[in-house]
Amino acid sequence: MYDYFEIQAKIGITKHIGGLEATRKLLKWCKVDNLDYVLVVGSGNGVSAIKIHEMTGCTVVGIDLSEDMVLMAREKLKSSETGVEFIVGNAENLEFDNNTFDVVISESVTVFTDKTKSIPEYHRVLKDGGFLGLNEVTWISNPSHEIDEYCRSVMGLMAETEDVWLSLLMEAGFKNINSSVNRMSQWKQMRGDFELQSMDFFKIWGRFFNLYFHETEYRKSANRLAWEAIHIPKGFNHYYGYGLYVGQK
Ligand SMILES: C[S@@+](CC[C@H](N)C(=O)[O-])C[C@H]1O[C@@H](n2cnc3c(N)ncnc32)[C@H](O)[C@@H]1O
Repeated sequence: MYDYFEIQAKIGITKHIGGLEATRKLLKWCKVDNLDYVLVVGSGNGVSAIKIHEMTGCTVVGIDLSEDMVLMAREKLKSSETGVEFIVGNAENLEFDNNTFDVVISESVTVFTDKTKSIPEYHRVLKDGGFLGLNEVTWISNPSHEIDEYCRSVMGLMAETEDVWLSLLMEAGFKNINSSVNRMSQWKQMRGDFELQSMDFFKIWGRFFNLYFHETEYRKSANRLAWEAIHIPKGFNHYYGYGLYVGQK
């Protein structure tokens, strides 16, 4: 059986909560411009890292734990595209020197990591005065054990309340921290996903149907995921939101 990420990696899709609108806000809060050297942690299929480069002109390095994701992301680069590269790397142990980047952006990634390792790593690789922009799953209020457990076991993500995210940033040494917590709107999310993935929409669905009808293991894994999505615990959307967090080194 494939896990949640493998199912996505095989068809080349990744997404983050809040869509491109959330990314735009982070870029604004982090004051990203064309002179900046930006690390995108957990760059997935590469689409948002490429958009970040196109929207601001900054130089981007995207890292992801999954080699398949990095290969997919590299395929998206036009041969003329300079200023964006993708490499395999782990948020919990970044292979960059101290004080390397002006900005670190991570969207729907840190929630899958050991935050006591990844967030201090973001701080270490930032230059003094540099900004961290996080977009991460945030509980609007403390969820029931059933809902928390559903997220951990089905999606492998460990969401936190805003207070916990803020203390993680403070403990890692970030200052001037700002945050905003937003409820999920399924409709807005679908629109945002489409805006991000539109260049590959048909390829993604083409790959999905090809695998679904030709690979038994993929079909079983996708069916299991659909079953779990249908059996989402009651009240889930009442608790599930996303937080934008910006801190300065
Ligand atoms: C939900 S996707 C989000 C991808 C991307 N940020 C986007 O907006 O499309 C999460 C990504 O985080 C990557 N990931 C998970 N744990 C990681 C880690 N410890 N270090 C780097 N990447 C990681 C996964 O491989 C996956 O591509």
